[in-house]
Amino acid sequence: MNMVAFESSRAATIKSSPSMAVSLAAKAMRAEGEHVVDLSLGEPDFDTPVHVVEAAADAMKRGITRYTAPDGLPELREAIVAKFRRENDLDYAMDEISIGNGAKQILFNAFLGTLEPGDEVIVPAPYWVSYTDIVILHGGTPKIVACGVEDAFKITPERLEAAITPRSRWFLFNSPSNPTGAIYTADELKAIGEVLARHPHVAIMSDEIYEHIVCADIPFTSFANACPELRDRTLIINGVSKAYAMTGWRLGYAAGPKDLTKVLNKMQSQSTTCPSSITQVAAAAALNGPQDFVAKAVAEYKARGELVTQGFSAIPGLEVRAPEGAFYLFPKCAAYIGKTAPDGRKIENDTALASYLLTEGKIATVPGAAFGVEPYIRLSFATSRENLAMAIERTADALAKLR
Ligand SMILES: Cc1ncc(COP(=O)(O)O)c(C=O)c1O
Repeated sequence: MNMVAFESSRAATIKSSPSMAVSLAAKAMRAEGEHVVDLSLGEPDFDTPVHVVEAAADAMKRGITRYTAPDGLPELREAIVAKFRRENDLDYAMDEISIGNGAKQILFNAFLGTLEPGDEVIVPAPYWVSYTDIVILHGGTPKIVACGVEDAFKITPERLEAAITPRSRWFLFNSPSNPTGAIYTADELKAIGEVLARHPHVAIMSDEIYEHIVCADIPFTSFANACPELRDRTLIINGVSKAYAMTGWRLGYAAGPKDLTKVLNKMQSQSTTCPSSITQVAAAAALNGPQDFVAKAVAEYKARGELVTQGFSAIPGLEVRAPEGAFYLFPKCAAYIGKTAPDGRKIENDTALASYLLTEGKIATVPGAAFGVEPYIRLSFATSRENLAMAIERTADALAKLR
């Protein structure tokens, strides 16, 4: 018998990614021959643009196959600086940029490098599943502020003010939002900025990874644009995964004051050293190259967003807010909690509902509990319209069987 307890108390404080877990369960059902519509993963279903793939192949042929500096190849940092200037009208210097193996690693580097035990990180819920676990892993305490569909899924200045304590270290938020699709307007960001201006000990982490995926008429505004006066304590996080269908390439980036990016780069240097040199060249090609791929993908997400909004709104008992961006629908499902399935199972919460939808309806969704609010389910519409039409039909049928 193995007597070694491998898991540290630190590792035991967190769980594996719940959306990944649902997706693995769906894959296992598929392997058993079941036809499952998987709406669990937030991953574009398009291929990476060809010119990006070719840039990577070319990089390999040119011998760009060695370690790079932790903050990346100059050509990538230049591309990132140019992106901020071109798309966001923001001026960052080369040493105000940091890169990582995905935006996820940027979050790791930032919290590893800045949190003292017990520091609080204010996170509006629903939040992206990984935020709170990454904070906890690095000794921080997530301070969660619930913002349900009644609040248009957004934190108000008053609630933010009430959540700030002397231990607050960061305010971390995401717009357009995973899992709700909500976008903060420039005025809303300014109002949040006014609160933060009164609390100079709180830094701001703005996760803008869905920047380009905007379905409504609300223009995307970077927090750094809305609140330039907070620039010296704002970290803007972004990446190529969602905009350019590059989830497997692993490249995220951040911009912020150089005292902060220096810390992130130090963490990077002692973890993975640098993202793959080949990926870095590919990411530079994505940022510098033609942007028509993004526009085409967004047009398709928009059409899908309309399809699911209509389809799921028509299902009795689901409360749907049309997403303004990203590729998620986050219907509230309170009407179904407490009901009983045909096999006698009680639907006690949204986790039980998602599990019922998977086994009975063969639709993989992620319960609201994973995102810090209940009872909701998250549906990713980064999949074909045929799949979405099937998911709507199956959900309606499965829910209609609950008594
Ligand atoms: C809000 C949000 N931030 C960050 C990420 C991580 O992206 P990356 O692939 O760059 O690590 C995701 C991925 O799902 C996300 O939804």
